[in-house]
Amino acid sequence: MSSAAHPDSAASAVHPPSAETIARAHVDAAKYEAMYKASITDSAGFWGEQGKRIDWIKPYTQVRDVDFTLGQVKINWYADGTLNVAANCIDRHLATRADQTAIIWEPDDPKDPAKHITYRELHAETCKMANVLKSLGVKKGDRVVIYLPMIPEAAYAMLACARIGAIHSVVFAGFSPDALGARVNGCDAKVVITSDGAPRGGRVTKLKDNVNQALLHDTTDVKCLIVRRTGQQIAFRQGLDYWYHEEAAKVPADCPAEEMNAEDPLFILYTSGSTGQPKGVVHTSGGYLVYAAMTHQITFDYHEGDIYWCTADVGWVTGHSYIVYGPLANGATTLMFEGVPTFPDASRFWQVCEKHKVTQFYTAPTAIRALMGQGTEWVTKCDLSSLRLLGTVGEPINPEAWNWYDSVVGKGKCPIVDTWWQTETGGHLITPLPGAHPTKPGAAQKPFFGVQPVVLEPTTGAEIEGNGVEGVLAIKDSWPGQMRTVWGDHDRFEKTYFSDYKGYYFSGDGCRRDKDGDYWITGRVDDVINVSGHRMGTAEVESALVAHAKVAEAAVVGYPHDIKGQGIYCYVTLMNGEEPSEDLRKELRNWVRTEIGPIASPDVIQWAPGLPKTRSGKIMRRILRKIAENDFGALGDTSTLADPSVVDDLIKNRSE
Ligand code: WTA
Repeated sequence: MSSAAHPDSAASAVHPPSAETIARAHVDAAKYEAMYKASITDSAGFWGEQGKRIDWIKPYTQVRDVDFTLGQVKINWYADGTLNVAANCIDRHLATRADQTAIIWEPDDPKDPAKHITYRELHAETCKMANVLKSLGVKKGDRVVIYLPMIPEAAYAMLACARIGAIHSVVFAGFSPDALGARVNGCDAKVVITSDGAPRGGRVTKLKDNVNQALLHDTTDVKCLIVRRTGQQIAFRQGLDYWYHEEAAKVPADCPAEEMNAEDPLFILYTSGSTGQPKGVVHTSGGYLVYAAMTHQITFDYHEGDIYWCTADVGWVTGHSYIVYGPLANGATTLMFEGVPTFPDASRFWQVCEKHKVTQFYTAPTAIRALMGQGTEWVTKCDLSSLRLLGTVGEPINPEAWNWYDSVVGKGKCPIVDTWWQTETGGHLITPLPGAHPTKPGAAQKPFFGVQPVVLEPTTGAEIEGNGVEGVLAIKDSWPGQMRTVWGDHDRFEKTYFSDYKGYYFSGDGCRRDKDGDYWITGRVDDVINVSGHRMGTAEVESALVAHAKVAEAAVVGYPHDIKGQGIYCYVTLMNGEEPSEDLRKELRNWVRTEIGPIASPDVIQWAPGLPKTRSGKIMRRILRKIAENDFGALGDTSTLADPSVVDDLIKNRSE
């Protein structure tokens, strides 16, 4: 987002950690320096040691086997070790913390009771789900799609897959039937786990109906396991659909944990790129868990007895690493929230913090901005004295939001960790550590252990040395949480991440390194946009638009949006003979919502009689971005356009 502070501006005030924070922290400044150095100079030694934070069935002898060379990219960590991820997240805690709460579940409606699920209960529930999946024929290596609201069964389902060695692919419950169907087919899933309905913000989404629509044209007989959440009527597909509670009553509450290789896939998570349809990011078992557990402990300075809350949805990577796998691997108490920040009113987040005595709170800048706009009294009327640390993720945070978060929510005493990472990275790559780094509003700051960020000159790919520099962000060398491949398409993996800048993992983000060597993420440099912290490819929205019979052509760009960070700006050229109208605008907006989901709803649709193209027919998005930003003075060279006059037309129409 363009409003991220410039590092040299007044907004870059420095907030040193308090003596109390330093004293408590797992890592202080001196320890960070020493550990970071060791993690780079002796990567195998460092990660060999860190790998011991989880339990192995057969210990590894090889720590790393990595190659970033285009054409032969391979990423292996702990490759000859075996383990089970679910056993690490549950069974190994039973001896010491069976009666401790593993998951606090807070329902959408605050009038409904919260649930406290102990590690013992988590074990039984996960085993039952695992046995039900087995009874439906799911075997090691099979794919299971999880399309659920934020209910405990979502965590049981993920862990149940991990327990039997099935690969889960969680699909955000806000995605449309079409988007769901594409993901089910993309990974060739055997079973979809869903619920009758999903309550959110007082409204109910008919999840099972969506699944039925998604599978309408399916010929492979995908089975469906339905968790009863709302009790509403559903259409049952005889012979293919099963109520979870009925099946669970037939199976034992114990299920052996499958021995998995460290490099066996744990999950696939579809994410948007700059081209084509979403790709299935593959994470494997051993390295991912080590990295998720370590970052959860150190970035959030997690200690015994803490109540940790990440407000993300399990449909995104943040929910995977920092609601389920990281916290549970650490034996933590993790809060799962079904609702939204503004239901029943704008104090819900803070009421939940007060009710459950939350110590660490992790959310997205878009939520902070939205709540900031509602006024401080929603926050100040709640008792937030339990809070010790705040975190943000998903997009650059503007200093105004950072300062509000710091002073109004954190009362100036909670360090803020601005964690930069991606679906592909499995866990935090750049973040301040609470006891080690003075924080700066808007800066993601320092690399995590083992992470070597580099700033590259965008066109030549040369490494830019020194401080006070700007370019694109790439990472030299691997870390255990790194994605391993794109499901079914290793070539696409190599091309997407390793071909633009040879020898590096390319993040797709731009960044600055300020005079102190702190990193500031400036946003995507490709055709990916970040809307309310949700990642989206402009190409996906374009292909949804052109699938409409009245649309001839469409180009989509992001533009700065006060609350969402970025909004979705669509230029639409209609078929010959079609007339633009408000009704058609509404129709197209709804069309995109049904094609992808409400998160992709266009903010602006501008009718475009023509789009700016080069003589070879390539759409010049740079110009479209500038027009969307209302920045007409900086259009740059338009002389290479096939028809420069279309730009004048677009500018003229912009204000309409
Ligand atoms: C953006 C979410 C600035 C970035 C974990 C990245 C951020 C994309 C931050 C990944 C941050 C995430 N500061 N930008 N702290 N965190 N981003 O895959 O553009 O949904 O490339 O993963 O979000 O989004 P994804």
